[in-house]
Amino acid sequence: MDHYYLNLAYHLALQNAGKTSPNPSVGAVVVKDNQILAAAFHPAAGEPHAEVLALRKAGAAAKDATLYCSLEPCSHQGKTPPCVNAIKEAGTKRVVFSAIDRNPLVNGLGQQQLKSDGIVVDQIEMPAVNHFYAPFFHSILKQRPYVIAKVGATANGIISPADRNSRWITNEWSLAWVHHLRAQCDAVVVGADTVILDRPHLTVRTPGIIRKPTRIVLDSRLKLNPEDCSLLESDAPILICCAETASQERERLWRECKNVEILRFQGISTLLPALFKRGLSKIMVEGGQKIFTLFHTSGYIDEYVLMIAPRLLTGKHFLNILGGPEQSLSETQRYQVDPPQELDGDVIMRLRKNV
Ligand SMILES: NC(=O)c1ccc[n+]([C@@H]2O[C@H](COP(=O)([O-])OP(=O)(O)OC[C@H]3O[C@@H](n4cnc5c(N)ncnc54)[C@H](OP(=O)(O)O)[C@@H]3O)[C@@H](O)[C@H]2O)c1
Repeated sequence: MDHYYLNLAYHLALQNAGKTSPNPSVGAVVVKDNQILAAAFHPAAGEPHAEVLALRKAGAAAKDATLYCSLEPCSHQGKTPPCVNAIKEAGTKRVVFSAIDRNPLVNGLGQQQLKSDGIVVDQIEMPAVNHFYAPFFHSILKQRPYVIAKVGATANGIISPADRNSRWITNEWSLAWVHHLRAQCDAVVVGADTVILDRPHLTVRTPGIIRKPTRIVLDSRLKLNPEDCSLLESDAPILICCAETASQERERLWRECKNVEILRFQGISTLLPALFKRGLSKIMVEGGQKIFTLFHTSGYIDEYVLMIAPRLLTGKHFLNILGGPEQSLSETQRYQVDPPQELDGDVIMRLRKNV
């Protein structure tokens, strides 16, 4: 039954994914005599961890119980006390977890502490759980956000036809699916031209999900005008990233708007660590071509989500997914690919780098 309870803990973590940043989403289940005594997920950064909540809910009955956790319990003092202390105090007999927490502050120390407290500890690895935590480990080890590029394209790789109307390349199922994906990210990133041409809101519009990822716009010259900007029609935070030389006067106008910040930066390699320091550990780049190309050629896209519509477009003034220098095939890399998913004819391909 270990796999069953551990899977339950993982599904609790999945349920709250995206809402715990910069902490990872974790689920925990307390079981004794094959009865589930309590279950919990970590609600948000600064609030108790899943293990602590589940043990609290189980109360005195947690003595001699087994605790199942999707991630190795922490052993360090952060915003909340170490989980290993609560596990010991509750009289837990055994802990079963899935992924070792690769955060250098934990990285095996949690299980080591539990074992020295006389608690039986078992790790059961599950590939899905490793996948789930990979972006968190990646961001904490590299001190920059994990970067997903989400692209809507025709089957011949076009993201915008000559008339630049790319809003309806993919179908409504795909658009709804994107909202779920956005809800799991801390920020979405677009170029200023996409904001001007597409007039997007870049918000999460999924019934029942309240989540407001920061809307980051790369606008080197601050050409976006606050007097006519679709992003201001919704109240999620906006971060406009511009060059050191961009207009001070335009910056002043933007600063008068609610929920808007301006960040002057020198290059993408300094921008990403700055975003991480602001607590943004998973971001989704949503285009257009110049921005995909900037991130791709700098090697910062960790995962592509290609949403491919069964359409083929002719012409020569369209935009492909990527511009950039001419390459030969030998210079390209092969990504790992998840089994493709189909949404009423649209195909979703997820390409990942080895992280
Ligand atoms: N199908 C899809 O998935 C999809 C998604 C999004 C957009 N699109 C389409 O893509 C088209 C727009 O793409 P695009 O390539 O023309 O423009 P874009 O990528 O949306 O935006 C380019 C903007 O980014 C700024 N920029 C570029 N590098 C920068 C840097 N290092 N730092 C700060 N700012 C930087 C540029 O500033 P300066 O020019 O001022 O230097 C420019 O304003 C539209 O037709 C849109 O519909 C398609």
